[in-house]
Amino acid sequence: MSRPLAAITGASSGIGEVFARRLAVDHDLLLIARRRDRLEKLGAELFQQHGSAVEILAADLTGDKDLALVETRLAAEPRLELLINNAGFGTKGLFWETPLEGQEQMHALHVIAPMRLCRAALGAMVPRDHGGIINVASVAAFIRRAGGASYGSTKSWMTVFTEALYLELRSVGSHVAVQALCPGFTYSEFHDAMKVSRESMASSSFWLTAEEVVDASLEGLRNRKLFVIPGWRYRMIVALVTKLPAMLRVAIESRIARERSAK
Ligand SMILES: NC(=O)c1ccc[n+]([C@@H]2O[C@H](COP(=O)([O-])OP(=O)(O)OC[C@H]3O[C@@H](n4cnc5c(N)ncnc54)[C@H](OP(=O)(O)O)[C@@H]3O)[C@@H](O)[C@H]2O)c1
Repeated sequence: MSRPLAAITGASSGIGEVFARRLAVDHDLLLIARRRDRLEKLGAELFQQHGSAVEILAADLTGDKDLALVETRLAAEPRLELLINNAGFGTKGLFWETPLEGQEQMHALHVIAPMRLCRAALGAMVPRDHGGIINVASVAAFIRRAGGASYGSTKSWMTVFTEALYLELRSVGSHVAVQALCPGFTYSEFHDAMKVSRESMASSSFWLTAEEVVDASLEGLRNRKLFVIPGWRYRMIVALVTKLPAMLRVAIESRIARERSAK
């Protein structure tokens, strides 16, 4: 019998790769990212280990043509059970000093691509009343930071968008699940690509493994949780920050930003 299909963007490394490894046990996979060689190697390994049929879609999701291909593929897939919008990247530097191109690509990857892929997937899942979507946001959705204007705001968009989808699905009594996964600092290639040292970001007790993040997410999906924040430290911080009056929150964040820039 054919297995359900999980489509994962950004499956060539980090959190997306671990999602693929975990889901390969009982799913066929559609793996999406730019680095075809990485996806092919992972696909061959997962086929050998678990017998999962793995389809590779080498796509740059910031480009309209590639995005449309993935969108069409998802909309036409009757076995689509899970979509994981995970592809993403970070930048460093003040908004007006960093190249516009990178900021535009970030909005395309973190906002336009998940929005279009969610629409394609839901069009197939809602009539079947079955399936789920995980949108990988960040704790940065809740905590603003100087040097992360586009990152924090695009990830905030993702949590608001996912919550709104949850409400819409509930409003029609749908059993399709949606989740905003909000990890904190996680070991992956993310900070290497940004060319920042992990030590400069946070002490080691704050770092999560991609396995911890993915396991919390999949457990949250089984329990139909809308927001999943892996790690008790991050759950505490987000609970506290989101309860502060805006003026107090901004005052604390400004102080941290000034202290960081003085270093
Ligand atoms: N690591 C953290 O501390 C952390 C914290 C909170 C949230 N997150 C979020 O977690 C998600 C996964 O990141 P990660 O930590 O696993 O980092 P990662 O190891 O750098 O993985 C990022 C993935 O996104 C893909 N990607 C990047 N640009 C793409 C594009 N234009 N088109 C298609 N795919 C693209 C990359 O593949 P290719 O290069 O092959 O295209 C790669 O597979 C991101 O959304 C990130 O914002 C990470």
